[in-house]
Amino acid sequence: MLDEIRGQGNYRSIRYVRPLCPATVVHGGKEYLNLCSNSYLSLHLHPTVMAAARSAVGDYGTGTCSSRSVSGSIDLYERLEASAARYKGYRKGLIFPTGYMANIGIVSTIPGRGDVIFSDELNHSSLIDAMRLSHAKKVIYRHRDPEDLERKLKKHAIPERSFVITESIFSMDGDMAPLADIMELRDRYGFCAIVDDAHGTGIFGRKGSGVEEHWGLKGKADIHMATFGKAMGSFGAFVLSDAVVIEYLINRARTFMYTTALPPAALAASQAALDLVAGDLSFKEELWRNIDYMRSGLLSAGFDLKQSVGPIVPIVVGKDADAVKMQKMLMKKGFFLQAIRPPTVPTGTSRLRLTVVRGFSREQMDKAIEAITAAGRKMKLIP
Ligand SMILES: Cc1ncc(COP(=O)(O)O)c(C=O)c1O
Repeated sequence: MLDEIRGQGNYRSIRYVRPLCPATVVHGGKEYLNLCSNSYLSLHLHPTVMAAARSAVGDYGTGTCSSRSVSGSIDLYERLEASAARYKGYRKGLIFPTGYMANIGIVSTIPGRGDVIFSDELNHSSLIDAMRLSHAKKVIYRHRDPEDLERKLKKHAIPERSFVITESIFSMDGDMAPLADIMELRDRYGFCAIVDDAHGTGIFGRKGSGVEEHWGLKGKADIHMATFGKAMGSFGAFVLSDAVVIEYLINRARTFMYTTALPPAALAASQAALDLVAGDLSFKEELWRNIDYMRSGLLSAGFDLKQSVGPIVPIVVGKDADAVKMQKMLMKKGFFLQAIRPPTVPTGTSRLRLTVVRGFSREQMDKAIEAITAAGRKMKLIP
């Protein structure tokens, strides 16, 4: 089995790293520029966020040592759930240990037998696994295609029993869901819209609250999920909705009920990060300056960045082995990144998934653009 995976050029091994500063890591004794971190706002090493985590250890200890429904719901949760809901314009929030578990919790608990889930074909694996665990019928619509969604709604939708699930920014392609069209369809067909804003939170919208704000639809999904483990530089995730949905999840979502609550340090770090980004737009503005710089450098070199729009920059290479070859070329030059291959992305679209973070300096970005361009030429991706 493993030989088969190796033969396909699809073998994965773990590379251990130690972060040096927001943009660099040490691996095997060598320093690399990290081109694949999801810490878009570079907050995981921000002094205020780190101090909050340290102080929480002093006040609360290292673990909660119980599930949320027993004695794990320390008071840090209460404030953070309220802050997350306020930030994104929802009534109620509920924190889960991870985004993976939040998605499983929502989708395996709320839609049930006799319901229909419509899902974008490139939705994240956590949503795919969640649908597998749900007893609802699944209908897959073409990526970011509201016309295909409507065709399928006409054919399969059941009034009051239909759900549409989409990521806001697709994690491997960096492109944006047509949320305005999806919400317009929701108003006509009456489905429940579930939005996963893992990669939009802290980045999109005038105040950075996410992709719903970008579309003028802040707080308008029926169920919203976002994470603390990406732009917020911490760990954990939250679901936002009205009180009934949240109470139902507290009572029925197995990934909420049967697992230990988050450690105090993670909750305190998330709170500090959220307070920083909600009160100071310069974090997202600095990130956007870097996004624009990297994107324009790569576009002028001739790369096809597909429909991507934010910090996630896909460079589609094609074959698994070619993606690995290009990744190795860049690792040799001091750039840390991974080749993304099936089943994470569809066969034949293996890629480098670059990410831009706020902590990059101009000099680091110039070096990255130069090295990626040289590797892209060798791979014949660009002239
Ligand atoms: C779109 C999307 N949803 C959910 C998740 C899961 O979040 P977490 O890493 O907190 O489990 C991820 C992260 O990989 C993601 O990219």
